[in-house]
Amino acid sequence: MHPTIIAANWKMNKNFQEGLQLAKDIIQFIQTEPLAGAQIILFPSFIHLEAISKLLIPDVKLHLGAQNCHEQIAGAFTGEVSAAMLASVDVRYVLVGHSERRQNFGENNDFIAKKIDAILSCKLQPIFCCGEPLSVRENSRHYAFIEQQLTESLFHLKPDQLQQVIIAYEPIWAIGTGLTPSLTEIEEMQQTIRNILAKQYNTTLADNMVILYGGSCNATNITNFISLPGINGVLIGGASLHFKEFMHILSSL
Ligand code: PGA
Repeated sequence: MHPTIIAANWKMNKNFQEGLQLAKDIIQFIQTEPLAGAQIILFPSFIHLEAISKLLIPDVKLHLGAQNCHEQIAGAFTGEVSAAMLASVDVRYVLVGHSERRQNFGENNDFIAKKIDAILSCKLQPIFCCGEPLSVRENSRHYAFIEQQLTESLFHLKPDQLQQVIIAYEPIWAIGTGLTPSLTEIEEMQQTIRNILAKQYNTTLADNMVILYGGSCNATNITNFISLPGINGVLIGGASLHFKEFMHILSSL
């Protein structure tokens, strides 16, 4: 069985000192916690990555992820950061397809597919975010919407490449809003995602995919999400920014 993943997306928050302090507090805390075999992945900003990588302790279940990367490995792309650069500072995961990047930076499914290729080519694991806007769910088109996101961003991958991808189902209307889907709705969506992958690839691969839920997770509701049989962990934004709240989340595992 795959360990439960607790992924913390700090977004564009924390200056260098604040981020380093939060990472130190978390690392100190988890050394004394059993964490029920969970694996924590921090996604701080680029400026924090190298300093936090130096704090990582072997056998402590904490890894580093980046919130973004460019779709090319190197070149004249002023202001960008490549997957190869991330790999050089012990980053293991990269978020891709987050709805904030889709909405604010115009990233579409095809472009996201290219980023996934870049991430995989550097032997990093993409955490591929998918999720529907509220209007799509209200029109009961959410399954078709997710199917299109999966098809256009993932279906070019070979089975062994797809196995490296972690999928985060994050309904857009649940991100930062305090709203969450019902547990039945989350369970139905992860099953739909597995069915779509089973049809394109095979059932074993689909059953073994790691699928996270994200959107307004906090210390109060986390146990509901991680106890769902088809959900392998959570992607947490706002509630991961405060040590006390994050500590409560980790304590409840
Ligand atoms: P949230 O964000 O937990 O603040 O809703 C989740 C995310 O954007 O990944």
